[in-house]
Amino acid sequence: VVIHRHAYRPPDWLVPTIALDFALDPQKTRVKARLQVKRNGDHNRPLKLDGNNQKLLAFSVDGQDAQSQVKQEKEGLVIALGGEAHTIETEVEISPESNSQLMGLYASSGLLCTQCEAEGFRRITYFPDRPDILSRYTVRMEADEKAFPVLLSNGNLTLEGKSENGRHFALWNDPFPKPCYLFALVAGNLAAYRDEFITQSGRKVALAIWVRPDDVNKTHHAMNALKMAMAWDEKVYGREYDLDQFNIVAVDDFNFGAMENKSLNIFNSRYILADPDTATDADYDAIAGVVAHEYFHNWSGNRVTCRDWFQLSLKEGFTVFRDQSFSADLGSPAVKRIEDVRSLRAAQFPEDAGPLAHPIQPDSYIEISNFYTATVYNKGAEIIRMMHQLLGAEKFRKGTDLYFERHDGEAATCENFVAAMEEASGVDLTDFRHWYHQAGTPELKASLKWDGATKTSTLTLSQKTAATPSQPEKQPVVLPVAIALIGKQTGKNLIGEQLLTLTKDSESYRFENLAEEPLLSINRHFSAPVTVENQVSPEDLAFLSANDDDPFARYEAMQQLMLDFMVARVRGEQVDPKTVINAVEKTLTNKDLDNAFIAEAVILPSENMVGEKLDIVDPKRIAEIRDDLRKMLGQTLEKLWRQAYQSCERPSYQYTPEAVGARRLKNVALSYLAAGELADAPSIAWLQFEKADNMTDRRGALDVLVNGFSPEREKALTAFYERYKGNALVIDKWFAVQAFSTRPDVIENVKKLAKHPDFTLKNPNRARALIGSFAHNARAFHDLSGEGYRFVTDMVIALDKINSQTAARMIAPFGRWQRYGSDRAEMMQDALKRILSTPDLSRDVFEQASKSLLPN
Ligand code: ARG
Ligand code: ZN
Repeated sequence: VVIHRHAYRPPDWLVPTIALDFALDPQKTRVKARLQVKRNGDHNRPLKLDGNNQKLLAFSVDGQDAQSQVKQEKEGLVIALGGEAHTIETEVEISPESNSQLMGLYASSGLLCTQCEAEGFRRITYFPDRPDILSRYTVRMEADEKAFPVLLSNGNLTLEGKSENGRHFALWNDPFPKPCYLFALVAGNLAAYRDEFITQSGRKVALAIWVRPDDVNKTHHAMNALKMAMAWDEKVYGREYDLDQFNIVAVDDFNFGAMENKSLNIFNSRYILADPDTATDADYDAIAGVVAHEYFHNWSGNRVTCRDWFQLSLKEGFTVFRDQSFSADLGSPAVKRIEDVRSLRAAQFPEDAGPLAHPIQPDSYIEISNFYTATVYNKGAEIIRMMHQLLGAEKFRKGTDLYFERHDGEAATCENFVAAMEEASGVDLTDFRHWYHQAGTPELKASLKWDGATKTSTLTLSQKTAATPSQPEKQPVVLPVAIALIGKQTGKNLIGEQLLTLTKDSESYRFENLAEEPLLSINRHFSAPVTVENQVSPEDLAFLSANDDDPFARYEAMQQLMLDFMVARVRGEQVDPKTVINAVEKTLTNKDLDNAFIAEAVILPSENMVGEKLDIVDPKRIAEIRDDLRKMLGQTLEKLWRQAYQSCERPSYQYTPEAVGARRLKNVALSYLAAGELADAPSIAWLQFEKADNMTDRRGALDVLVNGFSPEREKALTAFYERYKGNALVIDKWFAVQAFSTRPDVIENVKKLAKHPDFTLKNPNRARALIGSFAHNARAFHDLSGEGYRFVTDMVIALDKINSQTAARMIAPFGRWQRYGSDRAEMMQDALKRILSTPDLSRDVFEQASKSLLPN
């Protein structure tokens, strides 16, 4: 069944309150539910309750057994009802232990926990599972006291006590009406790291992060991030926390990053647990970002929720924008922007350019889980960011104030958000709305003409969005383009920063009385999520990379320079690497730049980014060209890499922005020394590996060694495994590092690893570490033998039986077949066809594989 955005209808029946009673047990849990239902509007349609994977034991209406009134269908119950209001009671049996989908109530290393978004609640009890039904929840849960000493749910704990047979119970009451996707429950042997936060109005909030007792000492970073996020949301958005408790639980088996259940956030343990020995600096950043993200959902998601799942970007795009801004304020805004754009380009641009392209508000879906995408999340965040620029910070804040005030306690739409922005600011956003419904990344063309006689420059901007599936015609979108003109002689910014708003296909802008001929600094701080086509010579790019006063634009100029060079080489053109090498040298030796920025700027654009510039992608050739340039840079700038490496060494581990930046540059320098095949590179890496007092350095060394053939490689892999065996999150890294290797034998090794006793498809982190990583290792995945395709296909088919959501997320790389030569394209299509011919395929995988086969 295909669900369409325009087919939305308000619910026929509302459920103002629900009382749940759980008799918890890993094999057989009994769930009693009492729903007060109320007819919504004038109609005589039956009440429909969604439900699957559960056994109905009892059913009554207004206290009377009503088995005869109810029709049991495959996807739920249909109940014919007269009158206006009724009490519906059900009792069902479910089995958490056999729930390998990890949706609904499931078991994870001895814990019982839930994941309901988007449609998991219907796997727990019969209920109208849609986000526009808001109910007050009371929850009673009972379990064996020894096995499950801690019992948590949403809201406030109102009572706890002992019951029979060594069991105990807890009663929870959530005063805020919420959609069922925000329901949560956790039971298990957990220990808490506690703290508190006093809100701006003086409410004292008890904070707790619940983990396995051994892991309590790894929760301090997450707790700090939580408190900073709470303070930040008060300061920047005026949003205060609204209950006396806020709980976070970390679990090992989780389909995604984390979940914002009201006052009971549940996390993938990789986004909570950290200490210097086991987590990299990137892990620390991700933890702070995700903790903030889930906390921010309390307002953007929970207090104001989504009317239907086509509004998903309402909460996700906005909340990603909020967590990105938080992280930027915490550290270096420029470096954070570079990282966010890097991941947008790596994950979202390809999505927008392939057969799975969809707008941030899709028109239809088969399985909503497939739309928790980089487009809905990250492009969604860019669209909010553009409004922030068009309105300015102050009016944007007025807009969010109005939005929160007007829709508090409601299930809202993206249109509600834009309307609030528009009303509060007085800025007309009529045309801006196209962003919500149009897929595809716009291409922005820029050309700057200089008239020396009149000292005038004319800038022409034009835009075009390529057709995407089911959207052959595209309209121009509103593009806020931040520009500056940089003097070609002096390197000075001649006009300051200007925000041009391109609304039409094409427009020209004149700049007069310029002191000298300028170069164009365009799309500064990545003001619009577009690709820029701008013919600039390598010399001018090098000049901009050294002189532009916007750090992001500087980074861009450098990336463009490197990218143009590699693309020309792949095309077989003769190009001189001197300009690239000199630009890297200048950046490396620029005393005004900080280490974190330098590290970002000197990393070459990815193989995929090179591929996006070519009509036909040849991954092998791209890899060779890129390796070649890395080798050349490693060798010609050897002295500078060694210097950078040494100057970034620190006597001992610290977690400060300065120390993080130094580690980043040190490891980039090491990777260039290795790329340059310098004889002592493996021994430097091994030394770093051995004496490291933190995971960033240990992992950095391993990343380098794993690509080579030195004896140190095997030593390091073995030592790493021995040191960390039993620590799932670190062993995930051990699998991922090997799956990302550039060695030609990576496929054999990955197949071996799939048989390793520590490998399992049941744990999503582990499956992603090996298979997900490998599918993104372009040269290996696309090997002409077809072995890479075959391996991933086998794994997807096997995983679909266990966890279809996680399996569906591994299909996208096959969908890019149209970009490859016919040899690869045919094998990729065959892989998709083989997946589709598998009996009993899930909806999730069916949707992704069938759409991936369509030409675009
Ligand atoms: N709302 C969660 C978050 O972004 C993610 C939930 C993912 N669920 C899903 N079915 N894809 O914080
Ligand atoms: Zn979210």
